[in-house]
Amino acid sequence: MSSFSSSKCIVWFPILALTIQLFSIHNVLSQTQNNAFLFHKCSDIEGNFTSKSPYESNLNKIFRDLSYRVSSTGFAASSTGNTPDKVNGLALCRGDASSSDCHSCLATAIPEISRRCPNNKAGIIWYDNCLVKYSSTNFFGKIDYENKFYLYNVNNVSDPTSFNTQTKSLLTDLTMKATAGDNQKLFATGEKSLGNKKLYGLVQCTRDLKSETCKACLDGIIGEIPNCCDGKEGGRVVGGSCNFRYEIYSFVNIA
Ligand SMILES: *[C@@H]1O[C@H](CO)[C@@H](O)[C@H](O)[C@H]1NC(C)=O
Ligand SMILES: *[C@@H]1O[C@H](CO)[C@@H](O)[C@H](O)[C@H]1NC(C)=O
Repeated sequence: MSSFSSSKCIVWFPILALTIQLFSIHNVLSQTQNNAFLFHKCSDIEGNFTSKSPYESNLNKIFRDLSYRVSSTGFAASSTGNTPDKVNGLALCRGDASSSDCHSCLATAIPEISRRCPNNKAGIIWYDNCLVKYSSTNFFGKIDYENKFYLYNVNNVSDPTSFNTQTKSLLTDLTMKATAGDNQKLFATGEKSLGNKKLYGLVQCTRDLKSETCKACLDGIIGEIPNCCDGKEGGRVVGGSCNFRYEIYSFVNIA
């Protein structure tokens, strides 16, 4: 998949950033807002497929399989067909999404990515609660360096230097927690006191990664804090293999 050019990315920032700010103002979220659409990307680098082709039929099979299997554990990866019509796909729900929220996120994401990328052999779509990705290339177990975007809250903190340090420290701790031997979910959330405020964080990787690969992925995006959300009250780096989020309000679902 081709990479985002950074200038192309910047065009999206104000729109997406505004969405986040609205979320923080209206703390009571409806279900649809709670599972907001974030971003998508179609890729034709691997070519396009035609209607009624074997590729299309394999892709539909992958979509059915992913949506059937994802709710029980929040993750599914699957391949079907033979080269050149082989399709690889994965679906991941946010680690704190209930099984019904997970299932309904996929039920929204799959038709939406099909509509947005009708003939692309590869594509990815992100919502708050889930991610769906497919490609003719076998991408399992590897860090996705191609698909990535930033989101931030437009509000600035008053003490950016110490705030950035605290953010980095929380997300680094959460990375350790998410990739510790017994954490099969490659997901962690936590919080940290900042004087009279609190900082909340979340990290997650797709579960086709080994824990050390997950750690490398998260360490990489945490290193992008100065680019994505320097001194901002909230921020996210969202990739195809891992993502983090931090806010000064609680955004995690309590089961
Ligand atoms: C795929 O289709 C798009 C839109 O129809 C077209 O612009 C693009 O050149 C095609 N790519 C390839 C590799 O055929
Ligand atoms: C935050 O700081 C930036 C850069 O100094 C500024 O352009 C922006 O308007 C500030 N945002 C708010 C909400 O005050």
